[in-house]
Amino acid sequence: MGEIRVHDKQFEPYLNASMIAGRIKEIAGKLNKDYADKKPLFIAILNGSFMFASDLFKELAIDAEICFIKLASYKGTKSTGHVLTAIGLDMDLFGRDVVIVEDIVDTGKTLSEFLPQLKHQQPASLKIVALLHKPEATVFPITIDYLGFSIPNKFVVGYGLDYDGLGRNIPEIFKLIE
Ligand code: IMP
Repeated sequence: MGEIRVHDKQFEPYLNASMIAGRIKEIAGKLNKDYADKKPLFIAILNGSFMFASDLFKELAIDAEICFIKLASYKGTKSTGHVLTAIGLDMDLFGRDVVIVEDIVDTGKTLSEFLPQLKHQQPASLKIVALLHKPEATVFPITIDYLGFSIPNKFVVGYGLDYDGLGRNIPEIFKLIE
């Protein structure tokens, strides 16, 4: 594939389908080993992670559950600022081995707000798998236990990731041309 246009911007090929699939197989291999005698609960954060979560989950050879949630930001009181709420999290996490599935960790803000809420439910363990990480963009440091690719601080689309609503259906990852 050559360059593509999404809305008003041009993007160039960055991570192709076989690179993504290969890396997912490697991550799944590690998860299959690490969770061999456990029954982990994967929590995929919508919308961006749907494609990654689906491809990753297909490679798991262990007993595992998955649920999909959406994070919504509400305006709280003056002292609490805005509050991040998980919509659709109807599982009891107490004593479970939980694995969060994210498409991309950028500043780390989303996970730094959300993880304490999950820890509050006292899971037996809590790990993070992310397809992409932009280390240069870090504001809130997050430990990513299973990472697909570390990428420069550039905007990307495709493979579930959007630019203003579009581009999620592109099967590969494209990088903004600046
Ligand atoms: P964070 O809270 O700054 O870590 O941002 C995480 C969220 O921002 C991701 O789940 C994405 O939805 C979005 N995001 C960050 N960088 C990109 C990008 O390059 N392309 C598309 N979405 C992005």
